[in-house]
Amino acid sequence: MDVFEAIKGRRSVREFRPDPIKEGDLKKILEAAQQAPSAGHCQPLEMVVVKDQAQKERLARAALGQTFIAEAPVAIVVCADVARTSRRYGRRGEELYCIQDTAAATQNIHLAAYALGYATCWIGAFDEGAVAKVIKAPAGVRPLAIVPIGKPAEKPSPPQRIPLSKIVREERF
Ligand SMILES: Cc1cc2nc3c(=O)[nH]c(=O)nc-3n(C[C@H](O)[C@H](O)[C@H](O)COP(=O)(O)O)c2cc1C
Repeated sequence: MDVFEAIKGRRSVREFRPDPIKEGDLKKILEAAQQAPSAGHCQPLEMVVVKDQAQKERLARAALGQTFIAEAPVAIVVCADVARTSRRYGRRGEELYCIQDTAAATQNIHLAAYALGYATCWIGAFDEGAVAKVIKAPAGVRPLAIVPIGKPAEKPSPPQRIPLSKIVREERF
C-alpha cells in the first residue's frame, strides 16, 4: 500500500472483531515501530505485547474504562526507557525526545497495521502508574501509549481537519 493511502485511510477504530493477528504481521508491525527515528539514536523504545484476556482487561481498566482495548486480540503498550535518552540529553531527552521517539514509533505501528489490513486506536488517556503496574514496568520505564490492534468492526468516517490554510504559514507567524 502506498504511504499516502495509509496516512489518509487510517482511522481510529474503537470496535474490533476477535479474529487473531497473524504472528508474521505482528512482527512486521513491531519492526515498523523499531524503524522509527530516534533522537541521537538513543532508542528508548520498549514495547509490551499483550494478548492475554485478563491482562487486556486490566489495561482497559487502567485506561479509564476504555473497554474496546480488551476486545482487540492484541494491545501493544509503547514505553520509553527514559535513562537511555536522558543520559545523553538530560532534561530535554527526558521531557521531549523520549516522548517524540515513542510517538514516532506509535505512528509507525498505526500505519503498518493499517497497511496490513488491521485497525488501531491510539490510547493516551490512562493512569500511567496503573498501566506500569499491569505490565510490571521496571523503574524508569514509562508507558506512553497503548495501541489495540485487530480487524475492524466499524468503519468511522474521517473527522474534519482544520484546513491547511489555517495551520500553515509562510516564513513566520
Ligand atoms: C496522543 C493521543 C492520545 C489519544 N488518546 C485516545 C484515547 O485515550 N482514546 C481514544 O479513543 N482515542 C484516543 N486518541 C485518538 C484520537 O481521538 C483520534 O486520533 C482523533 O479523534 C482523530 O481521529 P482519527 O485518528 O480517526 O483521524 C488519541 C490520539 C492521540 C494522538
